[in-house]
Amino acid sequence: PTVTVLNGPNLNLLGTREPAVYGTATLEDLRDLCARTCEELGLVLDFAQTNGEGELVELVQRARGRSTGLVINAAGYTHTSVALRDAVVASELPTIEVHLSNVHAREEFRRHSFLSDVVSGVIVGCGAQGYRFALERIAELTRPSRS
Ligand code: DQA
Repeated sequence: PTVTVLNGPNLNLLGTREPAVYGTATLEDLRDLCARTCEELGLVLDFAQTNGEGELVELVQRARGRSTGLVINAAGYTHTSVALRDAVVASELPTIEVHLSNVHAREEFRRHSFLSDVVSGVIVGCGAQGYRFALERIAELTRPSRS
C-alpha cells in the first residue's frame, strides 16, 4: 500500500526558514524520516512538496486511486483554501493533517483550518515527529481488518 505525503508552500525552505518555529530539519530530512517510517510500517512512500495551490489540488486528486492514505501539511493554504478542502473531501482518502509548529500558540489566523473538520486526525506542534505519528495512524486506519 502507498501513502502520499504532501507538503505545501515554503516547506521547501525548511531548515533555514524560522528555525525557532519550524526546527532545523530540512525537507530532505523530513522525506528520509517518512521513508524510514514507511519501511518499518510496510508502506510505500509517495512524497511531494509544491508552492502552488493548484498543484497541491492536483497532487491530492492524483493520490486518489494510487494511495490508500494521505498525510498533508498544507502550510499557508491550510488557513485559506476552500479548493484544497474540496479536493481532500473528493479524494475520500483517510487523511491526517500535520503542522510542525503548534498553530494554536501563534497568530490568531493560524487557529482556523479549512481541513481540520474534514480529515481523520490532526497533529500539531510535534515537529518532524508529527509526520511519523501521522504515518503510524494511516497504517492503523488502512490495516486490513483481521476477521
Ligand atoms: C505550518 C503552519 C502554517 O500556519 C504555516 O503557514 C506553515 C507551516 C506548520 O507546519 O507548522 O507554512 O503548516
